[in-house]
Amino acid sequence: MIIDGKKIAHELRQAIANQVALLEQKPGLAVILVGDDPASAVYVRNKDNACKEVGFYSEKINKPANITQTELLAEIERLNNDDSIDGILVQLPLPNHLDANQVIETINPEKDVDGFHSENIGKLMQNKPFLRPCTPKGVMILLKITGVDLVGKNCVVVGASNIVGRPMACELLNARATVTICNSKTQDLSSKLKQADIVVVAVGIPKMIQANWIKSGAIVIDVGINRLDNGRLVGDVDFDTAKEVASWITPVPGGVGPMTIATLLENTLTAHKARKQK
Ligand code: GUN
Repeated sequence: MIIDGKKIAHELRQAIANQVALLEQKPGLAVILVGDDPASAVYVRNKDNACKEVGFYSEKINKPANITQTELLAEIERLNNDDSIDGILVQLPLPNHLDANQVIETINPEKDVDGFHSENIGKLMQNKPFLRPCTPKGVMILLKITGVDLVGKNCVVVGASNIVGRPMACELLNARATVTICNSKTQDLSSKLKQADIVVVAVGIPKMIQANWIKSGAIVIDVGINRLDNGRLVGDVDFDTAKEVASWITPVPGGVGPMTIATLLENTLTAHKARKQK
């Protein structure tokens, strides 16, 4: 069966909008885009539009590609001290001359709606999560929809990035699954995948995962979004053949992608409520 991320994300956004309508103050999200990478510009625009749709206050901040580290950190400090802002997101990747890690660590962890700050990653690692990275959190919601109990299941995560693979593995571990973390260089990846009841792939290599690597009846979650030369978007999994082997599979587009924005909104609402309680 195909997991309809677009529909599930829509329902989650609707539920958030209903909650926002009851709040005294609007949750506020600031999204910073440095430079003019076209893919990043699309993601930032989508995030800004999604905020407006659920009734958030949204600030879209464009900075030139040649901004200095000091200037960027000053902007983050300004937003840390702005009471109308509950969430701060700096779209990645940043131009090479900027230190992304220092940028992330400068965001107040209470406003770190990406969940990338070491304090939030540490809390996730200790299974005491506060703000959780958006994409893995979205994947956990999709897995829940399948109704499959994760306890004791063999999960293979392919990709070990800070944005997806590592926090994804942590989420699955917190759900008491057995987790193997691989990457694009893992030796004999196909034999690891053959053991997997659940496969999550986030490597950014078009159609890298073949159907004959996947165990019959496995759940396949494809985080990859790759644009081919002909303009078509494809995932990291060969969807057309893998869908014949998997019990559940996410399409690209329309699978994990829409969930990432919905969970970003959810994190912003969580951050807003936590700040109001203080
Ligand atoms: N670039 C790709 N994915 C993400 C994400 O989830 N957050 C941010 N800030 N940048 C990204």
